[in-house]
Amino acid sequence: MRLLERMISGEYERVIAFQSAVCGLRGFLIIHDTTLGPALGGIRICRYANEEEALEDAFRLARAMTYKVALAELPAGGGKAVLIDHPGLDREAAFEEFGKIVESLRGRFYTGPDVGIRPGDLAAARRSTNYVACESSPELGDISEKTAIGCWQGVKACLDFAGIRRPPRVAVQGVGSVGMWLARLAHRAGAELVVADVDAGRARAAAEEFGAILCSPDEILFAVCDVLSPCALGGVMRSAVIPRLRARIVCGSANNVLESPEAGAMLAARGILYAPDFLVNAGGVICGGEFHLLGIRDCGPSLEKIYGRTRRVLEAAAQRGVSTAQIAEELAEARWRRPATHCSV
Ligand code: PHE
Repeated sequence: MRLLERMISGEYERVIAFQSAVCGLRGFLIIHDTTLGPALGGIRICRYANEEEALEDAFRLARAMTYKVALAELPAGGGKAVLIDHPGLDREAAFEEFGKIVESLRGRFYTGPDVGIRPGDLAAARRSTNYVACESSPELGDISEKTAIGCWQGVKACLDFAGIRRPPRVAVQGVGSVGMWLARLAHRAGAELVVADVDAGRARAAAEEFGAILCSPDEILFAVCDVLSPCALGGVMRSAVIPRLRARIVCGSANNVLESPEAGAMLAARGILYAPDFLVNAGGVICGGEFHLLGIRDCGPSLEKIYGRTRRVLEAAAQRGVSTAQIAEELAEARWRRPATHCSV
C-alpha cells in the first residue's frame, strides 16, 4: 500500500525489491532522483520487523539523500539501499549478491556505508561492483570520520550563532562509527561530554575515552546541555519529546531526525537551534561523491563549507521566522527540482 502511495506521488524514480533464498538477502534499493547526476546513498542494514517497515525507511532515507547531495553542491542525486538483518542471513554472501544489483545499475547508483554496516560488508559488495565507496579503501580513509568532521562544523556554526564562547557541554546519543568520532572531536575541542548508546559496551568505551558522563539512550534526549547530538536512528525529535528538551542546540549525524515537519516548527517555537540533519551530516557522501564522481582526493575544503552553510540557514530562518528545516529544504529544492521536460526512465 505504502509503495503504491509513494509511487502515485510521482516523486520516486525507481524502486527495486530483491531477495535470495540462497543467502537470505532481503531488501530494497530506491532511487529517488537523478536530475543532477547519479544517485548516491549508503546501505543500511537493520533488524526491521518486516519488509513494510524497511521499505518505508528506504523511501524516507532515499529522499533525504537527494536533499543532502543537492545542498552539498554535488553533481548527483539521491537513493538508498536497505537490507533486512535476520537470523537466516549469510552476511558475506548477501553483500556480494547485493553488489550484483548495484552493478546492474551501471553507475546510476553509487553506494557506501550507513547504519549497521560492519567491517568486511562493503568489501564483500565490492567483489561484485566498483560502485561502492569502501571504508577500507586507503584513498578515502575513514568515511565515518568525515561525516563527523562535517557535523562538527555544523555544531561550531550553531555555537557561534548562539554566542556560546566557552567549551560547550555536548550530549551524544549513539556512539557508533560517526557518533564516536563526533564525541572525539568535541572532546579535543574541550567539550564536556554526556554519552549514551543502546550497546552498553560502546557507551562505556566512549565514557572511558572521553571522561564522559554515561546516560541511558532515552534519557539523554533530556540532558542539560548546550548541544544535543542525535547520532543514532531517526525520528527522535517528536512532539512528545520536544517540550522536555533542555538543550539550546540540536545538531547531530543521524538521518531523518525530525519525525515530521511540525517537529521542526516546534523546535523553532521553543527557541532551540536545529541544524538540519541533511545539511550537517553530508560529510560522508561528500567524501565518497567527490572522490568517485570528481576525482577529488581531499574533501577537507568541502567539509569546511558546512560551517558557512549552517550559519546562512540559521540566519535566514531567524530573519524569516520559519524553521531551519524549511529553509534548508527550499535551498535544496531550488537546486534539484526537476525541469518540466525531465524524463526519469
Ligand atoms: N550513509 C551516508 C549518508 O547517509 C551516505 C554515503 C553514501 C556515504 C556513499 C558515503 C558514500 O549520508
